[in-house]
Amino acid sequence: MRKSWLKPALLSLSLAMLIQPLACAGAAPTPDNAGIERRVDGLLAKLSLEQKLQLIGGKDNFYTIAQPTIGLPPLKMSDGPYGVRVFGKSTAYAAGIGLAATWDPALAERVGEAMGRDARARGVHFILGPGVNMYRSPLNGRNMEYFGEDPLLSGSTAVGLIDGIQSQGVVATVKHYAANNSEYDRRHVDSLIDERTLHEIYLPAFEMAVRQGHVGAVMSSYNLLNHDYTSESQLLLTDILKQQWGFDGLLMSDWGAVHDGAKAFKAGLDLEMPNAELMNAGLIAARLKDGTLTQAELDDKVRRILRTAVRFGFLDREQTVSSLPPDSAENDKVALQNALESLTLLKNEHQVLPLDARAIKTIAVIGPDADPAIAGAGGSSHVDTFHAQSILDGIRHLLGDKVTVLYTRGLPAPMDVFKQGQFTGPHGETGLRKDVFANDGFAGTPATSIDAHVDQWKSELWTSPAKQRKSMRWSGRFTPVRDGKYLFLTAAASEDTYTLYVDGKPAIEQPHREGQAPRYATLALHANQPVTIRLDYKPDVDYSRMGFGVVAVDDMISADARKMAKQADAAIVAVGFDPASESEAFDRSYDLPWGQDALIEAVAAANPKTVVTVTSGGGYASHRWLDQVPALLQTWYPGQEGGTAIAQVLFGQHSPEGKLPISFERDIADNPAHAGYEPKSFTFGQPFDVAYQEGVFLGYRWYTSHPEQTQPLFAFGHGLSYSTFAFAHLSVSKPDAQDNVSVSFDLTNTGKVDAADVAQLYVGDPSAKAARPARELKAYQKVRLAPGKTQHVTLKLDRRAFAYYDVASHGWKVDPGMFKLYVGDASDDTPLTAELSLAP
Ligand code: BGC
Repeated sequence: MRKSWLKPALLSLSLAMLIQPLACAGAAPTPDNAGIERRVDGLLAKLSLEQKLQLIGGKDNFYTIAQPTIGLPPLKMSDGPYGVRVFGKSTAYAAGIGLAATWDPALAERVGEAMGRDARARGVHFILGPGVNMYRSPLNGRNMEYFGEDPLLSGSTAVGLIDGIQSQGVVATVKHYAANNSEYDRRHVDSLIDERTLHEIYLPAFEMAVRQGHVGAVMSSYNLLNHDYTSESQLLLTDILKQQWGFDGLLMSDWGAVHDGAKAFKAGLDLEMPNAELMNAGLIAARLKDGTLTQAELDDKVRRILRTAVRFGFLDREQTVSSLPPDSAENDKVALQNALESLTLLKNEHQVLPLDARAIKTIAVIGPDADPAIAGAGGSSHVDTFHAQSILDGIRHLLGDKVTVLYTRGLPAPMDVFKQGQFTGPHGETGLRKDVFANDGFAGTPATSIDAHVDQWKSELWTSPAKQRKSMRWSGRFTPVRDGKYLFLTAAASEDTYTLYVDGKPAIEQPHREGQAPRYATLALHANQPVTIRLDYKPDVDYSRMGFGVVAVDDMISADARKMAKQADAAIVAVGFDPASESEAFDRSYDLPWGQDALIEAVAAANPKTVVTVTSGGGYASHRWLDQVPALLQTWYPGQEGGTAIAQVLFGQHSPEGKLPISFERDIADNPAHAGYEPKSFTFGQPFDVAYQEGVFLGYRWYTSHPEQTQPLFAFGHGLSYSTFAFAHLSVSKPDAQDNVSVSFDLTNTGKVDAADVAQLYVGDPSAKAARPARELKAYQKVRLAPGKTQHVTLKLDRRAFAYYDVASHGWKVDPGMFKLYVGDASDDTPLTAELSLAP
């Protein structure tokens, strides 16, 4: 099934080879096979104008339009990017951020092959992934789909995945091109990025996907870049992607991302998805007639669609391989390996981990993320699994009946909160008075009733807008039974908006945006002193999907949680986000979801051997509890086998080997991009600016350049192991005529268990004429070693590894002089250093 022409440069070559000098500009990613082009020309000649126009728009959400006269079937697409989502249940692999944490492109290739098999089992021609947008802030709701903050790590992980997917005769679609690094009103955010930053940080992973991965398709993004929608940007689509990088595959829009059909057509978009809404036959035919658009432009688009179909064999065979099982044991194994390698141990004081199953009689497993399994986050990446192991399942299964496993969720589920709260209506009725207005402005005479509880919450993301707009108001009082803090919890969905007023003041506001997570406020109240409640809600649908409840903070943590933690020999607190709180279509909070900090503190106070596991796509606030717990395991979204993998790591059956693909800040304000992340002002539905004022100094590029500033809590590249490693004997070759350099050293497992480490090579250019980051990752290699064993590692650097993007010449430039090399296993832990001189 492997097709050699689809296979890019061998990944077994040094990863440094993945970075190519700009000298390659203009070279086509795959040498064009004259036979394919002749066949494409022949097919094109048989198509009428009408048929051609049909081909540049999608159909039924995930298909292209068939052309039976030339034997072209409808081409079927599925999300992506970490499981084949669209056509029923499927295997869920660890989310992208977890795959990046493995620092293992060869594993990414195996995951890609498995996803390719899942696609073939379902007759899918295109997988809508990988996603290679960059991590700027922990708030981006889609961080889990992407590969972190470093262009080389992102690009090389993507190349592995693409290679694997395409080896199965399935097209990979790299997305979202480009500069789509937040979800906050994502259809209107205008990313303002200077030319150098764009080329050094935001484009290289796409460039590698095209040039190294020979990716078959590219998807545009929703946002604007420097005032142009990316689906309509001549610079991005034609000048850079097609001309500079030589991309000859298919360029599709993100779903509904086109605003001006003629502009998108002219700029180089080949296919509007999910249908030809704006690049439609009527408009394009008229523009062809009046000469604004040309037949040659249309033919180029159609040619790209045909070329892709011919190249991947879609005209010559059935895409469905019915012998492949949709629920495959082989793919489960890949998902397990992916999860195992992704788990990243951030803290392990007094070697509290691994836990010794023989020495433990009772273990407490507590927390909302312990059970059921949270394999992935929310949005179009969410895969409905055939089966998924929760952390609780994994621990129970691993321990069997030798150890008693106590379990409690520890916190109520949102629905439990929405079903409680002692409310009284304006006339003393039990419950809140509900007024429903037949307009969206609370005007006129409402239909009135009493709601015992506001418990209609549905965590929906994409729904059809209401046929007739309504507004709803709940009013009455809440009477606390005792003095203390109370949590007011609210949730709605999609584009609903609401404001909760307590004693006439806004306590929680949900502004207009796409997608929503539960929100909360904590207020100090006095016994028997009622507060007035008014909840003004404007659903985007015809019904209410509002949830609202109040719970005393002291009652929030179950008594069982404290009791179990006290009684157990060790406690695992599984917290973090889930598909309702971290998702495509909205940004998330930096704080962990409501109640979780307090839960960790309560368990840690009851048991000194408390291990915290966090499910998230990136960083979060941990200052309230991190000092109180000896161990923290970052699990990302580990896929369907996550529970098994987590249990194996907690109990020492597998030494953790994940390394951070991001910097974990101590405080959100320390993040160099934070001040420029959220818009200064904005009106929903209108383009607004977000200036990337940190420039090329993103993440560790900033921290390592500013040692005088607060350093990250956990640095990029960091990740603990149950073993120890030593680096020695660095040697650096003399640069050859093309400035290729070999960097070699020994890496030894000096500990007592089999384990893997990641050798990371950073380059600094202190004498550059432009301000450059003190360290930039330019090569890496994962090394698996038995205790006492040493591997001699050689990493290769080419000229591009020393270059920066020069805006004067619009190209890559090396300033001759002294460069610094740093080798180690984290961006802040590089025991080997050397200097290297490049001649003019
Ligand atoms: C997402 C894409 C996805 C597409 C199809 C869009 O909303 O941004 O990533 O591939 O939907 O589900």
